[in-house]
Amino acid sequence: MIETDKMRIVNKVKYMQDLSNKIRKDGKTISLVPTMGALHEAHLSLVTEAKRKADVCVVSIFVNPTQFGPGEDYDKYTRNLNGDLGKLKNIGADIVFTPEVDEIYHQGFQTYVEVSELEKHLCGPFRNGHFRGVATVVLKLFNIVKPHVSIFGEKDFQQLKIVQKMVRDLNLEIEILPSPIIREKHGLAMSSRNSYLSPRRKISAFGVFKALSEIKKEFDLGCKISKKIIESGRKILEQSSITDIDYMDICDPETLQSKEIAESGDLLAIAVRLGGTRLIDNIRL
Ligand code: PAF
Repeated sequence: MIETDKMRIVNKVKYMQDLSNKIRKDGKTISLVPTMGALHEAHLSLVTEAKRKADVCVVSIFVNPTQFGPGEDYDKYTRNLNGDLGKLKNIGADIVFTPEVDEIYHQGFQTYVEVSELEKHLCGPFRNGHFRGVATVVLKLFNIVKPHVSIFGEKDFQQLKIVQKMVRDLNLEIEILPSPIIREKHGLAMSSRNSYLSPRRKISAFGVFKALSEIKKEFDLGCKISKKIIESGRKILEQSSITDIDYMDICDPETLQSKEIAESGDLLAIAVRLGGTRLIDNIRL
């Protein structure tokens, strides 16, 4: 454990568990913001919220190998621990839990969590095993950090729903709080992966939010047939030179099942690839 002017940096599971037990024994509450590092403003807004919700705010930084499929960006995923620690210290996180891979996945590790229905939709078919890796690591982080409350961004809406479902199905005594998407210029949803985009591709990426907005506009004008309004978004994507579309879907925000007839409050979600970069975003109708 390292202590930098009050912010503690912990990298051992046992130490973190003992620390959390002590915090709880002292009658204090714990909030957890799970991250994979490469922290930007959207992560920091989760930390700000987490600080408001509990006495002690823990941020985990762990690039989780089990949620990356073969050919995905595990190796090139941005890692900048020193930069991240500086940001977390500035914002006033209390503890940073940043374990090595073999601390989380010991040799012979073989237990996984699957939220079987919710992972069938949206990103699931395009990222085989991704949500199994997410649910597993999140459950492990919950068991290590022992938070009363944990905050998840709505940009990864399917992830948020899967974690909420896991908590309910497995009777975990943790409150899962959603936090709204933070957008940069032209509505581009903040993501660590935006840093992979060249300036030209970044301009193209603005088309993602533009397409979502166009679809919502068509919906607000009265067209409720999902297929039809989604087409208006496809045109915007084409104009922005985005041709590699994993999906654009209108779905029920609880079950994530696609809907032929869109209703107010439904989730409109999108995933596209720009060069080698996969971007996701969503809005509510
Ligand atoms: O959203 C992320 O950064 C990751 O999926 C999470 C929740 C930290 C699990 O590795």
